[in-house]
Amino acid sequence: MKAHIAVLPGDGIGPEVIAEGVRCLRAIGQRHGHSFTLTELPFGGAAIDLTGNPLPEATLSGCLSAEAVLLGAIGGPKWSAPEAKVRPEQGLLALRRALGVYANLRPVKVHPALLGASTLKSEVLEGVDLIFVRELTGGIYFGEKRRDADSASDLCTYTVAEIERIVRAAARLAEQRRGKLVSIDKSNVLETSRLWRQVTTRVMREEFPQVALEHMLVDAAAMHLIRRPRDFDVLVTENMFGDILTDEASMLAGSLGLLPSASLGDGQRGLYEPIHGSAPDIAGRGIANPYGTLLSVALLLRHSLGLTAEADSLEAAVAQAISAAALTPDIAGDARPVSTREAGEAVLSRL
Ligand code: NAD
Ligand code: IPM
Ligand code: MN
Repeated sequence: MKAHIAVLPGDGIGPEVIAEGVRCLRAIGQRHGHSFTLTELPFGGAAIDLTGNPLPEATLSGCLSAEAVLLGAIGGPKWSAPEAKVRPEQGLLALRRALGVYANLRPVKVHPALLGASTLKSEVLEGVDLIFVRELTGGIYFGEKRRDADSASDLCTYTVAEIERIVRAAARLAEQRRGKLVSIDKSNVLETSRLWRQVTTRVMREEFPQVALEHMLVDAAAMHLIRRPRDFDVLVTENMFGDILTDEASMLAGSLGLLPSASLGDGQRGLYEPIHGSAPDIAGRGIANPYGTLLSVALLLRHSLGLTAEADSLEAAVAQAISAAALTPDIAGDARPVSTREAGEAVLSRL
């Protein structure tokens, strides 16, 4: 097949992990006879430095005309002063909105060889296999922001239609998995959460009666997630709760560097990125974990290009590289750590 993929390396460790993602994509293209056209485009802080805009017009149009977008990470101290007028993160939010990717899938699976990499006890982690469906283009991230001399506010808004479509996306996933959906909200305090809970209850009763629905308050969910993570199958939640809970959930897998994501809308086009950021504390040292990015490439192959066998083979190659102890410092424990490049090589050689 032929496919155009926009590649946005971004900032910090973004270019380091994307380099491995691109090598794997090219290898899979060659091996399976696909012609992938990869176009690298400036984005985030790198684009601010070049053009003053984190999402330049040419980058946006390159993403809109691609079948899929692969993103590293954006941001960093250089662009993070509270007084800054323009920020890398604004570019990411604008890109998600422009692509219409309202459903952010963040799977969390525990690899047996990494039970010791987590700060949590192995017996709690064994067999964990869950997926977050985070609403990505609404809520407090996108509401009106106000600031005056002695106050500030961020408005959180959700419409019925926004809640319906994300709940349907999560319920369809739950149908294909273990038939269990947990919806996470703060309906004891927030009006948006009360709407969320009512709409979720109705959509599930009317359209997905065979999926078991449980509602959970977000503070309790944060606790249950590390107390009994195996009980969860699909979790659906609003934008900011999903952001916070998935960084927490990364410690089930053992590192923030391991978790991939797929951001999807109504069509085939998607945005694929590891859930972590630009990791300024380790950037430029060649030690970032590339596996979250490589697993994001697998999600890209599966969801936007329909290449199931290729996606499966990439996921299997990552799992084998981990079993063979190709581990970057964040997950190596007492073993000799490998570099970002060596971890990428370990996957490439197994593809
Ligand atoms: P971060 O995710 O960049 O890093 C948090 C911690 O996890 C750091 O100690 C870092 O070294 C570690 N880490 C992250 N990814 C890793 C990897 N692949 N391998 C090994 N260790 C890894 O979060 P932060 O430091 O709070 O944020 C830094 C910048 O990244 C901020 O500007 C933030 O806005 C941005 N950010 C961007 C994205 C994105 O582009 N999608 C996501 C999250 C944060
Ligand atoms: C993520 C990030 C982003 C978010 C930031 C960088 C805007 O933390 O993708 O998880 O909060 O969505
Ligand atoms: Mn985040």
